Amino acid sequence: MYVCNCNGIREREVRAAIEAGARRPAQIFQACEARPRCARCVCDMREMLDQSQDALRYAAE
Ligand code: FES
Repeated sequence: MYVCNCNGIREREVRAAIEAGARRPAQIFQACEARPRCARCVCDMREMLDQSQDALRYAAE
């Protein structure tokens, strides 16, 4: 499934970027060697970042 249709960035690529340390959508774009265009995907990226942070917080408890 594509998260970013403009750049063809798939969900698994976003997850890989987050696992590699991306903490902001801009860092995800950078990891995917892409640039934001319409930015409609930024909300989805932020949601995935939040879920990742929640999972880390839960694991640490
Ligand atoms: S959908 Fe990602 S920049 Fe347009």
